[in-house]
Amino acid sequence: MGKMWGGRFTKKINPLVEEFTKSIQFDKKLAEYDCLGSIAHAKMLGKCNIIPKKDAANIVSGLSSILSQIKKGSFKINNSVEDIHTLIQNALDKKIGKSSGMLHTARSRNDQVSLDMRMYCKKETNSIVTLAAGLKASIKEFSKKNIDVIVPGFTHLQNAQPVLLSHQMLAYCQMLGRDIDRLNDCGKRVDVMPLGSCAISGTSLAIDRNFVAKELGFSKVSSNSMDAVSDRDFVIEIISNLAILGMHLSRLSEDLIIWNSQGFGLVDIGDEFCTGSSMMPQKKNPDVLELVRGKCGTLYGSLVEIMTVMKGLPLTYNRDMQLDKEPLFKSIEVIESSLKILTALFKGLKVNKDRASELLQDEAIYATDIMEYLVKKGISLKDSHNIVGKIVSYGVERKLKLSEISLRNLRFFSSKFNKDVYELLDAKKSVNLKNSFGGTSPKQVRKQLKNA
Ligand code: ARG
Repeated sequence: MGKMWGGRFTKKINPLVEEFTKSIQFDKKLAEYDCLGSIAHAKMLGKCNIIPKKDAANIVSGLSSILSQIKKGSFKINNSVEDIHTLIQNALDKKIGKSSGMLHTARSRNDQVSLDMRMYCKKETNSIVTLAAGLKASIKEFSKKNIDVIVPGFTHLQNAQPVLLSHQMLAYCQMLGRDIDRLNDCGKRVDVMPLGSCAISGTSLAIDRNFVAKELGFSKVSSNSMDAVSDRDFVIEIISNLAILGMHLSRLSEDLIIWNSQGFGLVDIGDEFCTGSSMMPQKKNPDVLELVRGKCGTLYGSLVEIMTVMKGLPLTYNRDMQLDKEPLFKSIEVIESSLKILTALFKGLKVNKDRASELLQDEAIYATDIMEYLVKKGISLKDSHNIVGKIVSYGVERKLKLSEISLRNLRFFSSKFNKDVYELLDAKKSVNLKNSFGGTSPKQVRKQLKNA
């Protein structure tokens, strides 16, 4: 099959080398962008009279018909060629003949591959941002529906304080918001047009790089040809942002897995989102959530992979850089499928309100409220902490709930206790009290819902 090089070689390439060096099996994903980039490039070459206008027009029409074949899925991918750039060049040669040989004027695959990757990244970051916003909306909807449900919030996976379940879920909306910001922010650095950097140093031909940038919807052109052909920061940034996003999705999944376990029974994941066991007929397992959690392995793996590939590479292009694609494609695939499935799962997620109240029967969860009660009466935090700690231990020893300790006995620990202290042993009261900005009171949570 035709190559884009070969003039200086006297021997045929060893088939092992051919097999070892090719990237078509994965870079075929870039087919559409490769055509679009080449169309803009050919238009520019014609406009600048670098190649005859007639040939430029032939190239554009040939590439356009290849592009429509790609879009229809009828373009044949020949897995024996070196890469997608070669494949499309070969197809164009076949389609239009001689004019095709002018397309690669003032261009190298080094700047071409960077252009293709940047176009791909622009499109994919946008669609991930849309999917992440979709999940955010789904979580918000779920929170709204269950705005009144109170659950034990954990630290160290131990009961800590009562919180609104919606407050906990909206925490994930905050994380997703930052993930979206990060992706949009790195989108600015992706939005730089590298074509015209050529192999390393630019070209002696009078090209118009701004024209190409405009044609392809880029807002800037790269300003150093050596940087442009050897920079993969934009790939690393996306992969790293996806690793963080994936970490958030894994934590979300873990919270739901815990809440869905028999010990908690707080949420019910719809049947259609669970799987069974081949041996235990009673099982309904949260495999979807476990896989979202587990696929973080792939996301972190991609990050280590690309960072290691790029480390220590001398300027400028090195073939190592061909290995940027698989980790990027893998990460994008994992994140897109995880976001889609979680969004759908949230729509069917049910909360068991009775279980929520049962889980709140541990009155030790109000210890902090009692401590703040004493603080409000002028006792220092340190002393209040100590007093309530002693009361909790007194109750544990005698197997008494806080509500079962008499006022007389409470006063033994501090004379500041009054009858109203027992009113604190109530989940609703407890969350209502946390009305500091960003706290878990319904008033604050409604505010969050409005701004999420
Ligand atoms: N397949 C190559 C890649 O993805 C294209 C660039 C080839 N450039 C070269 N100088 N061999 O990096």
